[in-house]
Amino acid sequence: MARAAVLLAAGMGTRMKSATPKVMHKVAGLPILGHVIAAARGAGVERIVVVTSPDGAMVRDFATAEGAQTVVQDKQLGTGHAAASAAPALADFDGEVVICYGDMPLMTAKTLDASFAARGKAGLAIVAFHSNSTAYGRVIAGKDGLLDRIVEYRDANDEERKVDLCNAGIMAADAKSFFRWAAKLENDNTQKEYYLTDVPKFAKADGQGCAIAVADEGEMMGVNSRAELALAEAAMQARLRAVALNAGVGMMAPETVFLSHDTVLEADAQIGPYVVFGPGVVVRGGAEIKSHCVLEGAEVKAGAIVGPHARLRPGAVIGESAHIGNFVEVKNSKVGKGSKANHLAYLGDATVGENANIGAGTITCNYDGFDKHRTEIGDGAFIGSNTSLVAPVKVGEGANTGAGSVITKDIASSALAVERSEQREVAGWATKFRARKNAAKGK
Ligand code: UD1
Ligand code: CA
Repeated sequence: MARAAVLLAAGMGTRMKSATPKVMHKVAGLPILGHVIAAARGAGVERIVVVTSPDGAMVRDFATAEGAQTVVQDKQLGTGHAAASAAPALADFDGEVVICYGDMPLMTAKTLDASFAARGKAGLAIVAFHSNSTAYGRVIAGKDGLLDRIVEYRDANDEERKVDLCNAGIMAADAKSFFRWAAKLENDNTQKEYYLTDVPKFAKADGQGCAIAVADEGEMMGVNSRAELALAEAAMQARLRAVALNAGVGMMAPETVFLSHDTVLEADAQIGPYVVFGPGVVVRGGAEIKSHCVLEGAEVKAGAIVGPHARLRPGAVIGESAHIGNFVEVKNSKVGKGSKANHLAYLGDATVGENANIGAGTITCNYDGFDKHRTEIGDGAFIGSNTSLVAPVKVGEGANTGAGSVITKDIASSALAVERSEQREVAGWATKFRARKNAAKGK
């Protein structure tokens, strides 16, 4: 059966104290809403509708870019009202729909899938988990194991408050039936809100039961504050590290390695302590990232060694068995197989061939204040220490540059280019100098 998801993201998120909407704050480099969208896709959902507030333009732009539809909930009148506002967007949809909050970054595809699967028995299904927190509505089950009712904690009596089965806020149903029930919701509760949790009542009136799928509390955390965002980040990092270790990645101190949602580390990649991965990094098997490196948008090929203390920026491609050493920055540059830049260098907008050597202190001067220019370094070239390569410039295959040269013109293959004034030697000068200074000081 075709699957759709309605993700509620119209809440204010005022406790974040931020100009950025709550669901746009990032966990492992991806907005919270992006994690929920990924979980929905993972559960086979084809149509996604994100419910936003009128001032949620940033959320709508992100959702649209992710291939979701968006609707605006004019006023935040409650979770049921928010879900109902997606009805026009799914008017042409025949299939099953899951309603879920947009602020739960840890929720997995497996749990959404379980909510759809549980429905089979009853028509409708919710996801519940065990917790004693007063933040959650209580799930009261009937003798048949199906849902009797959900009571918000603030509306619950003492008996109901003792129940530790809590409502996650995930509900799966036949789409057409769901929107028919949601249209009947009323706001006769302490909050004067239209509660999503009242939908099962109307389902029951139609002879449809509501099954309860129990999930792990660890997935159900909603992010409402900066502190909760940090907790979610920590939980996500632990999950990503475990996935990497299980996949055969070597990590000596995994708790100090920070990963992005999309970091690709192949089996037998070795990651040292205190390495930070921004989005878009691929490290191939047999490559090693030594401690204290920062990588983003980069690929490190098999057998390459990066770091310690190196920075790879977007567009850096480090070839097989190449070495990028301490305090070397590489941006939008390809470093060929077996080439080495072992210390203190900047390679920006450059192409380095195979087996080239980039001396300490080499700088590609790629930017003139207006435009970026490319530097090309041929196979087997040897760039002397402290060479400035003023781009656009080409160093031919097997060519050398003398240390300290400022290279402004292309260098032919196998040639040496030196640009520095000739060294002068004054015999005995140092001895005379010291004698004069010592005499002046009375020594
Ligand atoms: C809700 C559930 C509660 C459950 C808890 C789980 C209801 C009535 N209660 O309570 O049973 O245990 O979630 O976290 O559903 N939103 C909108 N528009 C609105 C109101 C809310 O989009 O008009 C969105 C918010 O952005 C938020 C989500 O819905 O992401 C949950 O809303 P919130 O008001 O926080 O619900 P809770 O009181 O936590
Ligand atoms: Ca010079």
